[in-house]
Amino acid sequence: MKNIWVIANWKSNKTISEALDWISIVGPNLEKRDYLKVVVCPTFTDIEEVKKAIQVGNFPLIVGSQDLSPYEAGAYTGEETAAILRQFVDLAILGHSERRQNFNETDDMVARKVEQALEHNITPLVCIQSDHTPIPKGTKLVAYEPVEAIGTGHPDSPQEAESVSQKIKADHPQVEILYGGSITSENAKAYICREDISGVLVGEASLEGEEFVKIVNACLIQ
Ligand code: PGA
Repeated sequence: MKNIWVIANWKSNKTISEALDWISIVGPNLEKRDYLKVVVCPTFTDIEEVKKAIQVGNFPLIVGSQDLSPYEAGAYTGEETAAILRQFVDLAILGHSERRQNFNETDDMVARKVEQALEHNITPLVCIQSDHTPIPKGTKLVAYEPVEAIGTGHPDSPQEAESVSQKIKADHPQVEILYGGSITSENAKAYICREDISGVLVGEASLEGEEFVKIVNACLIQ
């Protein structure tokens, strides 16, 4: 049976108390299934408190970051290294289109971040914007997120998303592929049902705890 990944990308949202409210709504309402991997990716400053709340509640929730440094520890002002993040996270979203567009992140930088993640035992989730975006060596988890579908309410159709996934898998058979871009509790299931789609990366609709629980429930294999 394939894994199903449901990943909340909070982007630049939530104070610590808002983050903890979300955990108290989502945590107790998550089903435990072997194939189900539910991940929350808070801001750097929220990560530690979120991790503690998950441990205290013993909730089936993995913590991820939204980025990490392409460098080891040292004189890199403002950067969070993989070694530091490893204290709290098991996964890192890398190469999101918002980082590529707003912070000039290049394919080369994404590849260095993937190396850092792998070296420190963090699973890199590499975001690609089309089947032409390079997938760095060692990547096992990819999110296909067409830029025009992000935050617009106009997702790729499940058929289009699957056909891109198939193209990617032809060259990278070992990779699990998620879809991201305007996912809601209404449309999530249609993507999960596709054989070559192993989950969803959710931005806007992940911010409300109740809506996120609905998305996770929609993704359960009955
Ligand atoms: P969206 O964002 O769900 O708000 O479209 C998805 C993403 O950017 O990962």
